[in-house]
Amino acid sequence: MKATALAPANIAFIKYWGKSDDELRLPMNPSISMNLDSAYTRTTVEFSTTRDEDEVTLLDGTFSEQEVSRVTQGLDRIRQKAGRTEKARVVTKNTFPKGAGSAASASGFAALTIAGFAALEFPVDEKELTIFARLGSGSACRSIPDGFVEWKEGNTSDESYAVSLYPSSYWDLRDILVIVDSRMKKVSTTEGMETVRTSPFLTERLSAIADRMIRCKEALREKNFTKLGEVVEEDCLDMHHVMQTQIPPLRYWNDATRRIMEATKNWRAQGIPVYFTIDAGPNVHLFCEAKYEKEVLDALVSIKGIESIIVNKPSRGAHLIADHLF
Ligand code: PMV
Repeated sequence: MKATALAPANIAFIKYWGKSDDELRLPMNPSISMNLDSAYTRTTVEFSTTRDEDEVTLLDGTFSEQEVSRVTQGLDRIRQKAGRTEKARVVTKNTFPKGAGSAASASGFAALTIAGFAALEFPVDEKELTIFARLGSGSACRSIPDGFVEWKEGNTSDESYAVSLYPSSYWDLRDILVIVDSRMKKVSTTEGMETVRTSPFLTERLSAIADRMIRCKEALREKNFTKLGEVVEEDCLDMHHVMQTQIPPLRYWNDATRRIMEATKNWRAQGIPVYFTIDAGPNVHLFCEAKYEKEVLDALVSIKGIESIIVNKPSRGAHLIADHLF
């Protein structure tokens, strides 16, 4: 009754910000992402008949009470589906800072879902795994299928799932995750999304998404990097505009974030095709084609305020591994 899964974090090209149903974590809009091969979570789940309570441990870090309770609720959903009652020990480890807007909850809930069902030897198909992961953390559904992934918004829980658009080998892109602050963000995405309707720009954002989804899919199909970069930056800035105009406003960027955003524009003018995107935190994802990775890394040397850099290639989705964490 023990299994371990590895799940990648993912970076959204077209972002999810706002839920139409808080409980079911149904998004107000569809999204598209790429899985990241160096930013991942490993999670071991072991159910036992002799255990009275679930025990949840994060190696190299701590979980708040609220986070622990989100994990145990995830275990409850898995137990209920499998018709089981045994309590579990969960041990998890990230390769990157949790809660700094670099999607630890996405990889975390994807890994928990895969390991949890496998530990109970309860077969669930990929579509349903993405639905269970989504109920833990919306963007977690995108960490389950391979490579480049679409999350369909759906009107019901069954309709809101993620599918692979292309495998990881499809396009050799790089996501250079520039950590400028590894501390836990002050406002979680769950909390931040609760007030999304207070932004006067939400309606405009939602009506622009269908066209951006089409442009993003075309850019992927054509492997047109400029087209991809433009639509991704546009959607990132639009999401942050909504965040910044919510009441209370959510301002996730710091000075180093702004320096990198500004520099990206200059690097492009100097002939390096690189674009940025930023989630709910100050850290910046710079993306480029593999052949420009070194140039981007060299250019970053002159930027003040960088704590660390994680270079990611596109990754396969969440899967079981043999190495248990305990
Ligand atoms: O699934 P959550 O609650 O981690 O929300 C993710 C929100 C963003 O990272 C800001 C956007 C996205 O689509 O990943």
